[in-house]
Amino acid sequence: MNALSTHFLRAATIYAVIGMALGNYMGASGDHSQMPTHAHLLLLGWVSMAIYGLFYRGLPSEPASKLMVAHKWLAHISLIALTCGLAAMFAGHYAVEPVVGLASIIALINMAIFSVIVFKATKA
Ligand code: HEM
Ligand code: HEM
Repeated sequence: MNALSTHFLRAATIYAVIGMALGNYMGASGDHSQMPTHAHLLLLGWVSMAIYGLFYRGLPSEPASKLMVAHKWLAHISLIALTCGLAAMFAGHYAVEPVVGLASIIALINMAIFSVIVFKATKA
């Protein structure tokens, strides 16, 4: 599973750079209106993906299962839809709220998928 681990660790650092750049902008400008975008980009993009990467690092190096591949892509799709939607919403475009709602549901389902992956990988 090391390819998946490498994928998530690398992606996590990219989301961290973007999220921290937004944090720096917020600090420098004094405009904190994008705080939820900053918080969720870093917590779902940097922290969660780094955890996924470290988890996969500990698994034997076998081809990824279909569930793992689904989890990988849904993680990116939901994060990008959620953060772009939040960014638009907090810039005043409230019509995108359904996108944020849908992305939130996908993110939640995807965490449940990750839970199944963890349970399968850790069963005695
Ligand atoms: C270059 C690094 C960073 C800068 C300059 C930065 C800047 C900021 C700023 C200006 C705020 C708004 C504070 C407020 O309005 O009360 C904020 C909030 C927040 N940041 Fe960052 N941040 C950085 C890194 C991070 C990282 C690495 C994480 C998570 C792993 C993070 C998570 C959060 C969260 C969760 C909030 C919301 C806190 C709350 O609910 O009061 N930030 N950040
Ligand atoms: C499906 C995914 C998620 C949804 C739909 C969601 C939704 C929300 C909502 C509605 C708020 C309140 C925002 C506000 O009052 O302006 C919030 C705040 C917060 N959430 Fe999440 N969340 C999700 C995932 C997470 C995760 C995975 C973490 C941490 C690992 C997290 C950490 C936080 C923190 C620290 C705050 C306070 C910072 C802020 O106000 O922006 N959330 N979240």
